[in-house]
Amino acid sequence: MLELKEQIKVAVQARQHAYAPYSSFAVGAALLTEKGSVYPGANVENASLGLTICAERVALAAAVTAGERDFKRLVLVTNAAPPASPCGACRQVLMEFAPELEIISVNLKGEQVNYSLQELLPYSFKF
Ligand code: THU
Repeated sequence: MLELKEQIKVAVQARQHAYAPYSSFAVGAALLTEKGSVYPGANVENASLGLTICAERVALAAAVTAGERDFKRLVLVTNAAPPASPCGACRQVLMEFAPELEIISVNLKGEQVNYSLQELLPYSFKF
């Protein structure tokens, strides 16, 4: 199992690649699979603001594209205080694959908040 510290490093590094010229709010994510691989993501904004993609969904899409389906833990890195929690859209998208997901949000000061996806999105939509 990848150590949490290592996973945080991946998310911090991903955050450095965030493309956030409109909000200046850089977000990094690192998604750990059950088998121990980790997939980075960063937010990618667009001049047409609603087309922005959050870091969490970038990481999830990269992992699914690589054939992954089983996820254990998501790390989110921002410079928010308190550390940011994932937006509602990302919660629903993560729920599709990982109802048991652990979510750890940290900021650059080293503050940390732990959540479960279940607690962040009770009564999620199911088709
Ligand atoms: N953002 C994320 O990447 N993840 C979230 O969970 C919330 C918001 C991004 C989208 C946008 O680029 C910036 O943060 C400000 O909303």
